[in-house]
Amino acid sequence: MFVTFEGLDGSGKSTQAELLRAALEAEGREVVLARDPGGTELGEKIRGLLLGGGEITPWAEAALFAAARAELVERVIEPALQRDADVVCDRYVDSSLAYQGIARGLGVERVLELNLQAIRALLPDRTILLLLDPDVSVQRAGETDRIEREGGDFRRRVDAAYRDLAEMFPRRILTADGTQPAEQLSMLIRGQLRDLS
Ligand code: TYD
Repeated sequence: MFVTFEGLDGSGKSTQAELLRAALEAEGREVVLARDPGGTELGEKIRGLLLGGGEITPWAEAALFAAARAELVERVIEPALQRDADVVCDRYVDSSLAYQGIARGLGVERVLELNLQAIRALLPDRTILLLLDPDVSVQRAGETDRIEREGGDFRRRVDAAYRDLAEMFPRRILTADGTQPAEQLSMLIRGQLRDLS
């Protein structure tokens, strides 16, 4: 299975991705845990460019995220799925749809089009969207990066964007309450993926 986690910073994505990996491994499955942007040599460099500082125009930002993702798909995700491993990814294409497509106003359709080329149409089987109040998310998020420093209005736009995406892709994107205790939430999520295996 190919599962991605989405949500605002501080929503618990990384914790849940790690817990799902552990749960699947405990069932004897091979799991590759990845993070987007990152996970490859070039991807980590692009991550540095994107999050480090300095002004980036919105389309350059979208294209850089797509470039990092293209590397991740070809070098990590596809090979893992081909050898029947599960892939759990912390953020993926929906982050670009929410942050660049909706919150930055580039347009979901156009950002999706760009990304579908880059990822060669490889969409996740299921995406878990962890919902959290945008004001709580900023308190829970640790260090802030260039994009997180955009502030409250931007965070609220991203939150609304994610909720729109969940309505646009109701079969693929499942929402979960990010305020639940991590272990309890993890069991719930594993249950929701039972139809995949
Ligand atoms: P993240 O990996 O969650 O950072 P951290 O490890 O510090 O929690 O995400 C990095 C930032 O990049 C986050 O603010 C969301 C943003 N982002 C986009 O704007 N578009 C994208 O396509 C992706 C993947 C992330």
